[in-house]
Amino acid sequence: MSWIREDAPKFFQKFCANILKAGPMPKHIAFIMDGNRRFARKQHVERQEGHTQGFDKLAQTLRWCLDMDVREVTVYAFSIENFKRSQEEVDGLMELARQKFARLLQEKEKLDRYGVRIRVPGDLTLLPQDIQELIAKAVTSTSHNDKCFLNVCFAYTSRHEITNAVREMAWGVEQGLLQPSDVTESLLDQCLYTSHSPDPDMLIRTSGEVRLSDFLLWQTAYSCLVFQSVLWPEFTFWNLYQAILRYQVNYHAIQEVRASHRDDVEREERELDLSVALQRLRHGEGVAGDDPTAGTAAAAEEEEEAARQVACERRERTQRFLQALERKRTAYFEELSAEPA
Ligand code: FPP
Ligand code: MG
Repeated sequence: MSWIREDAPKFFQKFCANILKAGPMPKHIAFIMDGNRRFARKQHVERQEGHTQGFDKLAQTLRWCLDMDVREVTVYAFSIENFKRSQEEVDGLMELARQKFARLLQEKEKLDRYGVRIRVPGDLTLLPQDIQELIAKAVTSTSHNDKCFLNVCFAYTSRHEITNAVREMAWGVEQGLLQPSDVTESLLDQCLYTSHSPDPDMLIRTSGEVRLSDFLLWQTAYSCLVFQSVLWPEFTFWNLYQAILRYQVNYHAIQEVRASHRDDVEREERELDLSVALQRLRHGEGVAGDDPTAGTAAAAEEEEEAARQVACERRERTQRFLQALERKRTAYFEELSAEPA
């Protein structure tokens, strides 16, 4: 089964999709594709067949998303927690990944035609070397595409991702690239594996479970969460349709809380810069509170100018740090993808 199915949308689906598109559409949807094993049990087939059909459903869902102009999709394909499953099941899932990422490399021409860029958020070092290499090749060979984005979270959990981001910032401080006061919410955000993507507008979890299971905890703080009872391999176009309708009903409330949160982040950064600037000024003046101009308009202007200077220096430092981080990540992928197939 190919990653992107070529089948044309059915007439009635296309008609209904066009009605939906008259409203606000999610640009980025995340999926927790749950229920593969229950599906296999229900159908009296092997567990591995449930996962294989789960992949086929992913390919079909990507087609529906493309047809509905949803340009970014993020899926939970393998959680770090999944390593605790039986060795046989983990081996089966690794074999499926091996086959599908190898297939993806053969489909490069099709991916280029649709402009699909593949990213694989997760701690790839936890995977067998050959799968790391296949993933790195898939990621680097599509890195020039920018029309659609498919993020296949593999060996991923959100807590692991956030811990890694904190570690990266600690590395930045250790290397002298960052100052401790540069650590902000937006810097942490930019250190996540998902830093190149906007937060998902909507997250859909199938199989009736109503929890996030350590998936995109940070990124879905203001997303529309939709829980559906259908098992993932049985997910239909109409399940997706219903979820998008739910998003549209909640659209304005979501935009409002997002805007309010953006304002909060900006305000907190301004306050932080001002407090660093004040510390600097007091330090420069010797004893705190000695300044005879304190409280005057001239003093307020001096503080504002100092805060602007602090913000400017902080932005320069964080840019240099983020470039260093990007170089580190790119080097990892390039080194792996240079390995002979
Ligand atoms: C959850 O169902 C599904 C998984 C742990 C694996 C998801 C993987 C795929 C759909 C295939 C994608 C593969 C690639 C290479 C992209 P479950 O096993 O938890 O089933 P259950 O909830 O019924 O027990
Ligand atoms: Mg499950």
